[in-house]
Amino acid sequence: MNRVALVTGASSGIGKAIALRLLEEGWKVALNGFNSLEAGRQVAAGHGQAIYLDADVSSATEAKRLVDLTVEHFGRLDAVVNNAGIARQIDHSDLDAVDDEFWDLVMAVNLKGPWNVARAARAHLLRSQGQIINNASVAGITASGSSIPYAVSKAGVLHLTRLLAKALGPDIRVNAVAPGYIDTPLTHDWTAVRDFVAEKAPARRLGQPEDVAEVVHGLLSMSYVTGTVIPVAGGLQLLSGT
Ligand code: NAI
Repeated sequence: MNRVALVTGASSGIGKAIALRLLEEGWKVALNGFNSLEAGRQVAAGHGQAIYLDADVSSATEAKRLVDLTVEHFGRLDAVVNNAGIARQIDHSDLDAVDDEFWDLVMAVNLKGPWNVARAARAHLLRSQGQIINNASVAGITASGSSIPYAVSKAGVLHLTRLLAKALGPDIRVNAVAPGYIDTPLTHDWTAVRDFVAEKAPARRLGQPEDVAEVVHGLLSMSYVTGTVIPVAGGLQLLSGT
């Protein structure tokens, strides 16, 4: 296979599982992370078809550099998985605990990041009749999530997905996944959420990064699906406001 994917936020957690799954399936993969050179290089190491590129997707210039380096290295681009994201746990009722800096950063990375990368990748994806998969969250669907700014950023990602699917069709498909709770370095210590999911979500278990990778891999081959979102949450999305 000669297909090339760029996976952002692939030095850790969900992005790492997605990158490894695609490599297993024969894709060539550019892995990205930010300030994660050591970890990212370790994930890519031993995979002849992988490179790691450190870049901040919240910067349009960096996002373009990331896409350009990917195409320079592999010669083409078939899929972008916009997975990079940040979160912090802040009680929704404590409005004063949200400082401006966090609000701006979460929007810049989680929402503007996918836009920056999509815009930079567009011409290449047009050539390959490629696709974009955005990693949103159940927090963007129900009134829930680690903080209000985070949930708003992910709701934005879902709308961005629909708008881009409409704007870029028929050449480029654009879809999203919406994980619930996934056990990663970001969320491993979120004890109350873990307990809730294990006890109350219909699947009665924590999500693993590989659960999301499975769905991303599936979406890549679903040629008549665009502009949609697939929750990967063990049914957590059914428990509104959690
Ligand atoms: P993680 O903290 O394990 O990994 C985050 C990755 O994003 C790392 O590779 C990091 O280097 C990268 N990153 C952070 N800021 C970046 C930037 N400015 N530019 C480029 N890369 C950057 O997190 P996890 O849990 O794997 O989350 C990945 C995505 O999944 C995020 O978008 C998150 O919002 C989303 N998600 C996670 C859930 C969970 O329960 N873990 C649930 C729903 C969504």
